[in-house]
Amino acid sequence: MSATVDTLTVELGARSYPIVIGAGVLCDAALVGRCVRARDVLIVSNTTVAPLYLESLQSALRPRRTIATLLPDGESHKTLDTVARIVDVLVANRFGRDCAVLALGGGVVGDMAGFAAAIYQRGVSFVQAPTTLLAQVDSAVGGKTGVNHPGGKNLIGAFHQPAAVLADTATLSTLPPRELRAGLAEVLKYGLIHDGKFFDWIEGHAAALLAGEPSALAHIIRRSCEIKAAIVAQDEREHAERALLNLGHTFGHAIESAAGYGRWLHGEAVGAGMAMAARMSFESGWLGRTDLDRVLRLIEHLDLPTRVADLTPEALLQHMRIDKKVLEGRIRLVLLRAIGTAFVTAEYDEAPLRRTLDAHLG
Ligand code: NAD
Ligand code: GLY
Repeated sequence: MSATVDTLTVELGARSYPIVIGAGVLCDAALVGRCVRARDVLIVSNTTVAPLYLESLQSALRPRRTIATLLPDGESHKTLDTVARIVDVLVANRFGRDCAVLALGGGVVGDMAGFAAAIYQRGVSFVQAPTTLLAQVDSAVGGKTGVNHPGGKNLIGAFHQPAAVLADTATLSTLPPRELRAGLAEVLKYGLIHDGKFFDWIEGHAAALLAGEPSALAHIIRRSCEIKAAIVAQDEREHAERALLNLGHTFGHAIESAAGYGRWLHGEAVGAGMAMAARMSFESGWLGRTDLDRVLRLIEHLDLPTRVADLTPEALLQHMRIDKKVLEGRIRLVLLRAIGTAFVTAEYDEAPLRRTLDAHLG
């Protein structure tokens, strides 16, 4: 079967790679064959996704030798121990440096499979086959891989770019609505940090997006990947502009780790985190009231949380202090000057931060 696809490129010189977007991509043997060059392929998936999509992917990969390893499902399993299990399978099957690791699943599977590929024999080829909206618009692109530590989210990891991203939009038909909404939080992020018109578009098409309408989803996946690819091409290792992709994440990661991994979906925590970042921007005098209200209204309209009931400001601050963006003891935040314009700063007053936490917590 051959799929109708849209292809973008992440421009990284010799390490450039395609993002192939389309319905049925993972069943298209010719296309999959062009993107996965290795003879030995370890498919990393989980117990939820594999029953849905593993068999058709394995037949598209023939005549390669494919071995599948199925991880337990959930953010609470995104640990070094689980990555060690993936490495054990590579060793047990005598996979050499010319093998490929292919992640079939959401961001949790993708982050762990990518990290295993980054460290096995100091780095083997890696292909992303994201099956959640969040992974198709964000986590599968850009080469961040890793796992959580009980002390903080994504504290252990490596940059390891994939050789290709195969985003099969047909897989979204089986995604639970709550997971779809979580993905929409990361989509909204691109509008907020980079493209006010895209924010307007999401605002105008919220109902179609929430209903999972394929053409609306195809549009946001393409536009999100375009923005992310451009940012990663400019700043692969997050020395500058890439940090903007963390809008809402300092608050969000702290919510996830303080609550216990798996209680909040990552996208839900990012949604609440973006509400806090917008409030903090307003309270500091950088963002106007009208923009704040639009941001909060759209987050709520997408049925994402803007408040965290069972956390105190002190508990959240404690977890925020271990974020990767803390520099010289100061928590750096991504804040907004307008919808579509963001900046990173550690130069803010404590009083607006306190007012923000009081407004959104407890
Ligand atoms: P996830 O991987 O946990 O997937 C969500 C749920 O949907 C899981 O239960 C999964 O089994 C299920 N699922 C996946 N595809 C499905 C399908 N097609 N049909 C039915 N069920 C399906 O969560 P996620 O939101 O995809 O990813 C979140 C993770 O991504 C977090 O760990 C976050 O830290 C990470 N992340 C990484 C980056 C990065 O740049 N590396 C960026 C953003 C987020
Ligand atoms: N999701 C943040 C990044 O890829 O940089």
